[in-house]
Amino acid sequence: MDPRHAVLFEPVRIGPKTLPNRFYQVPHASGFGASRPRTHAAFRGIKAEGGWGGVCTDYAPVSPDSDETFAVASDCWDAEDMHRLGLVADAVHEHGALAGIELHHGGAWALNGESRYPRLVPSQVAAESRYSGMAKEMTLADIRRVQGNFAAAAKGARDVGFDIIYVYGAHGYLMMQMLSPVTNRRTDAYGGSLENRARFQRETLEMVREAVGDDCAIAIRTGVAGGLELMGIETEEMLEVIRLVDPLVDLFDVNVGGWPEDSGTSRYYPEGHQLPWTSRVREVTAKPIVGVGRYTNPDVMASLIRSGAFDLIGAARPAIADPFLPAKIREGRLDEIRECTGSNVCILREETFHNVGCIQNATAGEEYRRGWHPELFQRVEHPERPVLVVGGGPAGMECAMVLGRRGYDAVHLVDAETELGGKLRWTRQLPTLGDWGRVIDHRVIGLSKLPNVEVILGRRLTAADILDYGAEIVVLATGSAWMGDGTQPVHLSMIKGAGRALTPERVMAGERPPRGSVVVYDTDGYYVGPGIAELLAAEGYETHLVTTKDRVSPVSDDSLEGDMLRRHLHGLGIVFHTGVTLLEVADGTVLGETEFGDPWSLHADGVVLVTQQRSEQTLYHELTADPSALAAAGVRAVHLVGDAVAPRMPSEAVFDGHRLARGIESADPMAPVAYLRERPPL
Ligand SMILES: Cc1cc2nc3c(=O)[nH]c(=O)nc-3n(C[C@H](O)[C@H](O)[C@H](O)COP(=O)(O)O)c2cc1C
Ligand code: SF4
Repeated sequence: MDPRHAVLFEPVRIGPKTLPNRFYQVPHASGFGASRPRTHAAFRGIKAEGGWGGVCTDYAPVSPDSDETFAVASDCWDAEDMHRLGLVADAVHEHGALAGIELHHGGAWALNGESRYPRLVPSQVAAESRYSGMAKEMTLADIRRVQGNFAAAAKGARDVGFDIIYVYGAHGYLMMQMLSPVTNRRTDAYGGSLENRARFQRETLEMVREAVGDDCAIAIRTGVAGGLELMGIETEEMLEVIRLVDPLVDLFDVNVGGWPEDSGTSRYYPEGHQLPWTSRVREVTAKPIVGVGRYTNPDVMASLIRSGAFDLIGAARPAIADPFLPAKIREGRLDEIRECTGSNVCILREETFHNVGCIQNATAGEEYRRGWHPELFQRVEHPERPVLVVGGGPAGMECAMVLGRRGYDAVHLVDAETELGGKLRWTRQLPTLGDWGRVIDHRVIGLSKLPNVEVILGRRLTAADILDYGAEIVVLATGSAWMGDGTQPVHLSMIKGAGRALTPERVMAGERPPRGSVVVYDTDGYYVGPGIAELLAAEGYETHLVTTKDRVSPVSDDSLEGDMLRRHLHGLGIVFHTGVTLLEVADGTVLGETEFGDPWSLHADGVVLVTQQRSEQTLYHELTADPSALAAAGVRAVHLVGDAVAPRMPSEAVFDGHRLARGIESADPMAPVAYLRERPPL
């Protein structure tokens, strides 16, 4: 280990417990909760195995009037929930780490879709209005009951082995709704002065402490205003609240603002972006502090500890991307760290599909159901069979790397371009998306360390070349391309005159529309359309972003960056046209129709179509069309993988490459197979 990093491996005492080091996986949702306890336990356990000294659960609602359905949280309403969550504590303990649980009440932001109880609020101004209607203003009896729920859950958590019991006071949920002068307009002992607004939190902490005695450390997750406003709570006020509850707390877990700022994407927030605000917490407490900021650089981590700002390095996303980050630092294997890209695909997957996943780490969330370990790979039975992987994009790189780790004697990864990366090569050059290039960098390094893997660049293979290659196993990771022929997914008719337009690849290869105004037509709704628009706007084009969607880049809302992205593009002068379907690219004009069927047109000197991608399968069809030629060439199998199967998000291409490599010796590695599920016995 580099002696400069030794400070990160010092034990830290928090109340009655001692953390083995300063690496701490802060609470974050996974989508597994108490309903998939084994999946959840394996997901957390792997982090403890990788060296995280503290590992926490998802947010854990304490009562059915904080029912998060359709999301999946670590409900801890009764003994059965606790029994299931106990598996998480056990898995974490197995590797010598401490287990934390984040007790939660959503208040106005609960959904209660399944429980059908009214949401609870300090005053009837704070209801989540998505589904119409208002929440119930808490009576004093409600306040006592919810506090009792926290205390009961704390006791239950202690009994199943949790070491650190949190009260969740950040991200705008009930604790913060009570603190906020905007959402708390009460005139009783719980409203008005700061001391009154903090009473609910202080009493809850007292009750939780009383419930667990000296058996557990008590933590609070709390937020200070960052670059964005925090429900009308000034930083000085929040510091005062921290001072107020200080005697009741063993660990302050601090972050900034609302969730989109806290989990800020690399597009808009650099590593350590929270520090100017969170470092102020030290002014008011001598208790241990854990802070977050997408930290992956051990030098930065060590200097943070030395500065005294934090005692523990908190991480959600860096621990998802690399559960073995602490171990790699300890062993001086810094170049092997799988650095978080800040894409927030993890959040998109957790929030949308209730299954956390990661663009960098294909094994995240798959530890139990597929039995995947991020660092261990089962040796293949036939290492002597030469493997050829064609295409060095995300799927091809991942597949070749895993095949190499599985012990094949010879894996060749061949790409027509002079650099690895496929589509991500140009994606990383789009404004704000540079950190996505970490997906490439990690694999370039990983591949270079495998003596049995050879990377051959600048060579475009034909079907005949592949037959002559001498490979017994062929994996085609030939990717996909944006279509410029006018096909669009939302409309049956082709865009007339599409030949006048460019595609994203052509723009990124250096072609440009005529100077003047440009329309970027986006039916994809994620990062490519906005990226191309920003690139062209920066070059001085009058840029119009036209989309069939009801807003620009709705997918970015799922990665928590939609609002920021739209404001950012708007600030650059890019003009949005939503709900428009393009029908024709004419000379100097684009023609289409609005969502109401009215004709629509706009002057445009140039057009870029971000409409639809098509898989590149030519080689696959040529090779598989002639089984006898394959047999004669000694090729046992030809597999298709990644975008070449179906163009999807880069995370899915990485996953697909990984999956194929793990199952390469199965009867049909491309076929879907049932994975382990957690179903109640009938
Ligand atoms: C997938 C995901 C789910 C999250 N869910 C929670 C949660 O349940 N409770 C919570 O306090 N914070 C949650 N967060 C926020 C993180 O705990 C953390 O504060 C934030 O991501 C910044 O830390 P990082 O830069 O190390 O990711 C979540 C973050 C992610 C990535
Ligand atoms: S999905 Fe992206 S942001 Fe999330 S952990 Fe993985 S690399 Fe980091």
